[in-house]
Amino acid sequence: MGSFWENEIKRELEALKEKALLRSLPPIEDRRGPWVKIEGKWRLNLASNDYLGLGATLTWEEAQEVLASWGAGAGASRLLSGNHLYYQFLEQALEESYGRPALVFSSGYLANLGVICGLAGRRDLILADKLVHASLIDALRLSGARFYRYPHRDLKALEDLLRQHRGRFRRALIVTESVFSMDGDFPDLKALVELARRFEALLVLDEAHAIGVFGRRGLGLAEELGVLSEVDVLVGTFGKALGSYGAFVVLPEAMKNLLLSKARSFIFTTALPPVVVAFSLKAFKRLPALEEARQRVRGLASSLRQALGLSAPGLEAQVPIVPVILGASERALAVSRDLFSAGFWAPAIRPPTVPEGTARLRLSLTALMEESQLEPLVQRLRELRCA
Ligand SMILES: Cc1ncc(COP(=O)(O)O)c(C=O)c1O
Repeated sequence: MGSFWENEIKRELEALKEKALLRSLPPIEDRRGPWVKIEGKWRLNLASNDYLGLGATLTWEEAQEVLASWGAGAGASRLLSGNHLYYQFLEQALEESYGRPALVFSSGYLANLGVICGLAGRRDLILADKLVHASLIDALRLSGARFYRYPHRDLKALEDLLRQHRGRFRRALIVTESVFSMDGDFPDLKALVELARRFEALLVLDEAHAIGVFGRRGLGLAEELGVLSEVDVLVGTFGKALGSYGAFVVLPEAMKNLLLSKARSFIFTTALPPVVVAFSLKAFKRLPALEEARQRVRGLASSLRQALGLSAPGLEAQVPIVPVILGASERALAVSRDLFSAGFWAPAIRPPTVPEGTARLRLSLTALMEESQLEPLVQRLRELRCA
């Protein structure tokens, strides 16, 4: 690297460090149940989205069988020669459960880019909740559509925007998460569905953190609230409660056909390895039977919130994402370091992942945890005046 670049990059890194925004990769030496081994010591993992504990359930024999006949990688994109048999099995299983066609993408990030950029362009309007995931924000920018971000969960503001702008655009999309990834709260889904209908807008619902945890069959919050058939486009991921990797979109047949001809993040990327899709299928098929794990993790979340003095209404109290908002990034880093010494892995979540001044710990739980393992965490957070 020439000296110009060396100085440039050094300056930028120093600026990040000064604002306590420099990130580094934690070396995860081993993983077992709810524990991760870091720097030689087992610590309770409060930073995984494996809410049901499915991540460790792929047996070596199952993996070996797929690997022996299909090898490791898919070798090409889905539209060329990567569309292996497991994709068909998985999309069929998704379609049977959700009652509509499904399209599997290589990750949730790519699914969100593909859906938004595939369905909206320069002549269109997108209205998105202020706190949607970075993948959706990037998608808004990349789509070329006119977009506005309404205040978090403020459906009155959304309605005003629709009233003000809808008429000037060809298509309108409303984009939100069901369970918000960093706050663990949700919007009024029934009212959103109604608004979308009234203004002829397409509702795009990212259920990344709700799948597995909510719904009678674990299909997400829309299923839990009885509005599944009214959500136009539903995005789900396999990397969180399903313990695998990849993502899917549930949508009308014609939109599926359009996306697979047009969504660049679908077309121009290598297909998922067969063994990964086979595992996603196995995990997805198990979902309906995992009611006990769902109840367990939701119960743990409820108790933890209560112990920390955090209130959340109704079902929201059961979301296994418990944010402990600390404010400054420095403070979040200091508390995270303290917890690390006490045997907990709870990394600090800082801007731009969350808005400025709202750095936090995002405590995520899994059904594999015991209430007794969380007691010392609550105790330490109280001592640090975080609860
Ligand atoms: C709400 C939400 N959508 C999409 C994604 C992206 O999914 P993936 O990790 O599969 O790319 C994430 C998390 O990573 C997320 O939290």
